[in-house]
Amino acid sequence: MKNKIMKKDKDFLSQIPEWEKEYKNSEDNVIDFEKNDWKTAKASFSDHDLFIFGCAVMEDWETPYMKDLAEIVASRGGTVLELGFGMGISAKFIQNYDIKKHIIIEANSDVAKKAREFAKMAKHETVVLEGFWEDMIKDVHNNSIDGILFDTYPLAEKELYQNHFNFFPFAFKKLKPGGIFTYYSDEVIKFSDLHLKKLQEAGFNIKNIDSKLTKVNPPLDCEYWKASTILSPIIRK
Ligand SMILES: C[S@@+](CC[C@H](N)C(=O)[O-])C[C@H]1O[C@@H](n2cnc3c(N)ncnc32)[C@H](O)[C@@H]1O
Repeated sequence: MKNKIMKKDKDFLSQIPEWEKEYKNSEDNVIDFEKNDWKTAKASFSDHDLFIFGCAVMEDWETPYMKDLAEIVASRGGTVLELGFGMGISAKFIQNYDIKKHIIIEANSDVAKKAREFAKMAKHETVVLEGFWEDMIKDVHNNSIDGILFDTYPLAEKELYQNHFNFFPFAFKKLKPGGIFTYYSDEVIKFSDLHLKKLQEAGFNIKNIDSKLTKVNPPLDCEYWKASTILSPIIRK
């Protein structure tokens, strides 16, 4: 274990799903790579999944979810910001809509290379910014984005099932008034109280926080999702 052991507090544990009972009850940590090494780690793609550092980063059973998130993020057209390219499943769906521009931020260099190949062939202008969103987001103007889709991957223990929380204040800043924010929610049925609190602390009005449920069918051996639904956030600035 390379990283310092993190103590699992009440808020952190409240976001860990039911099926992670063993993890919830243990003091063990599971992320044992250095965040910076993610950039140069080898990305192994198959037709059905993407693995980095032995972690299942993306699997194609998520396709119906990516389709719904793409529909939500592109619902206003205009400029779409996507964080995390992965297998490019959501990116492909986004390009089916009448958008003006697609900005992709991706941290892993193998994956960013795929994103640049995708950008060359894309129907709508597509720009790839390579690096962690935490470093690249300053290159996106405030109040300039019509839709944001955030789907990265936890690169630190404290981000497990809640890596979107740190991004919420940036989502609020970067969206135009009326812009739409959606993301891989890690919620099965509804937003938890902590989740709603974080959204409101970032600036979103409770009246503008909505969602739909997407049905999914993960294989039994899927490491990160064991439910038949995932919440698709529809959040307006
Ligand atoms: C779950 S995949 C994205 C899946 C994508 N929506 C799709 O449909 O295929 C997550 C991606 O986020 C990237 N990533 C992880 N942490 C990141 C960060 N902090 N900034 C930017 N990209 C990140 C990973 O390298 C990976 O390519």
